Amino acid sequence: MSTVKVELTGAVFRSYPIVIERGILDRVGAGMKGLGLSGRCAVVTNPTVGAIYSKRLMDSLKDAGFLAALIEIPDGEEHKTLSTVASVYDRLLEERLDRDSSIIALGGGVVGDMAGFVASTFLRGVPYVQVPTTLLAQVDSSVGGKTGVNHPQGKNLIGAFYQPRGVFIDPDALETLDKRELRAGLSEVVKYGVIRDEAFFSFIEANVNGLLNLKSAIVEAIVRSCRIKAEVVMKDERESGLRGILNFGHTFGHAIEARTGYTAFRHGEAVSIGMVMAAGLSLYLAVTTEGVQKRIKNLLVAFGLPVDAPGIAPSDFIETVRLDKKVKAGNIRFVLVEDMGRVAVKDVEGKKLKDFLELYCHGRG
Ligand code: NAD
Ligand code: GLY
Repeated sequence: MSTVKVELTGAVFRSYPIVIERGILDRVGAGMKGLGLSGRCAVVTNPTVGAIYSKRLMDSLKDAGFLAALIEIPDGEEHKTLSTVASVYDRLLEERLDRDSSIIALGGGVVGDMAGFVASTFLRGVPYVQVPTTLLAQVDSSVGGKTGVNHPQGKNLIGAFYQPRGVFIDPDALETLDKRELRAGLSEVVKYGVIRDEAFFSFIEANVNGLLNLKSAIVEAIVRSCRIKAEVVMKDERESGLRGILNFGHTFGHAIEARTGYTAFRHGEAVSIGMVMAAGLSLYLAVTTEGVQKRIKNLLVAFGLPVDAPGIAPSDFIETVRLDKKVKAGNIRFVLVEDMGRVAVKDVEGKKLKDFLELYCHGRG
């Protein structure tokens, strides 16, 4: 078992453990009891994940003395809405959860973001724990307290920072995950190496097959990813500076997702292309070397992730990037890679971005 601690200043209960252990799904109830939780609770999941894992989780809650209800919400990003959240409030009231009750998010990032948002608002805030079951959720979305839902005008526009009381990660849950989803999560794992830890990047390079086949390397990768995310969140919970580095590859990635209607690529796939583009932009601006860019691209290719942007015109790219949140006074904020394991947040002039995209989109970037 490995435990990573997220220690935040402020009110009590804002620090929490991330426990990573094969088979921990059967011990979540005991783990929650150890965190001082008891009484009624509700497991929020979807039918896909629920069919495979809810019984084991519910049994562990009952064994630990919890009175547990199961709440299923529909599977899919298109259901990450306020109306789904409202349906969960209805069920929580029916099940008579009170302010001492807790919520457990069992699923990927969609379930986790919504269940966390419900917990932040139900009865003005009840405790919740994350039991993430996709790799993306295990290394990213379950840690750091970003919760929320989508709005017709954009993704994750409604939400709250609200930290869980604990995160219980069972790497064995990845056995049933679609391989495409696994690869998409590996894209975020690669990101951690690029932004913060050259040695971790080398570890990933040396363990491509072990990671894809869920050998022991996957547990190590989850632990090291969570450590990096925890370290960044502890320094900048509200994303006023440093936390922005977690968005490496995401500005281009978001533009690709938006331009392709959010259906062609999984988020991690768009981020994979976005990271190669961000490294290309870093090279174009002479803040990094060709060697760094090639290393990033080769590793993503080794995982079978896409690395080439679909045919999007430079002007369309720029328009979509400008609609993103990171535009300041005509300049566009990017996370650029300097060396492996080291990035910097920089404002890039619109004209330079346009020149880069012209070159890139014509296959010469
Ligand atoms: P997801 O939650 O949609 O899960 C992907 C699919 O895998 C779903 O169909 C799900 O039912 C299925 N699934 C989950 N676990 C499974 C398992 N063990 N076995 C079989 N099937 C399983 O997608 P995701 O990639 O986990 O999360 C994406 C969401 O996360 C987005 O909404 C994104 O905005 C959010 N996100 C949030 C943060 C944050 O910091 N809060 C960070 C990154 C992404
Ligand atoms: N996924 C980016 C963050 O949590 O800040």
